[in-house]
Amino acid sequence: MSKTSRPRVYVRVRPLSKKEVEKGKTVAFNVEAQTDDTLVCEKDGETVRTRFDKAFGTQTTQQEMFNHIGKEVVDSLASGYNASVFAYGQTGSGKTFTMEGDLSDKDAHGLTPRLLTSVFERLKTDPNVIDLVAQMSYVQIYQEKIQDLLNERRQLEIHMDRDGSYIAQGATWQDITGMEHAMRVYNDASKLRATNATEMNLVSSRSHAITMIRLQ
Ligand SMILES: Nc1ncnc2c1ncn2[C@@H]1O[C@H](COP(=O)(O)OP(=O)(O)O)[C@@H](O)[C@H]1O
Ligand SMILES: [Mg+2]
Repeated sequence: MSKTSRPRVYVRVRPLSKKEVEKGKTVAFNVEAQTDDTLVCEKDGETVRTRFDKAFGTQTTQQEMFNHIGKEVVDSLASGYNASVFAYGQTGSGKTFTMEGDLSDKDAHGLTPRLLTSVFERLKTDPNVIDLVAQMSYVQIYQEKIQDLLNERRQLEIHMDRDGSYIAQGATWQDITGMEHAMRVYNDASKLRATNATEMNLVSSRSHAITMIRLQ
């Protein structure tokens, strides 16, 4: 990825849930095998084809997702460029699965924990990196409000920075000493999203999490 690289757009089709199978539903989308970049949908006797940078089918593993998307992001960061990954889709389509995954099982880790691990692995082995400070910020958007997950969900305001970019004013930027530390901070803060049983909807589509890493 270079400074001028265009955004990449990927699509991932999730497998049917048990419930959907029981209801006799079938997967509506297929990835065209020859190209790997086209989603095919049969609708009302018509075939609709949509092209992406790459299309991932129901059998795609978390590791394969990371190989295609994560590595490029880490390369970009290591070259001094900003990079971001954003998941879009309706409730139940697999955003959380892809971005976070199952934090208790390494093989089931999604992009964010894999990226955190990979960034620090890269920094450790990069001879050009001597005196680098890594910091992490983790916020969620819930009911149109920004909350700081590294500070007890304190409400934050959005402001425009001097360079014209939008920032969550006063968000905690915690120093991160390595990948274990990063994962610990991320895990602990994620619990703040999920464990509050009376607020179960915090983990549904009404809450959107943004994890940021700053390298200086
Ligand atoms: N690629 C996948 N493979 C297997 N199960 C998946 C996949 N994507 C999503 N799921 C499952 O489907 C359900 C909905 O996914 P989830 O990530 O919670 O959706 P969203 O965050 O978009 O609302 C969850 O039970 C999740 O484990
Ligand atoms: Mg979700």
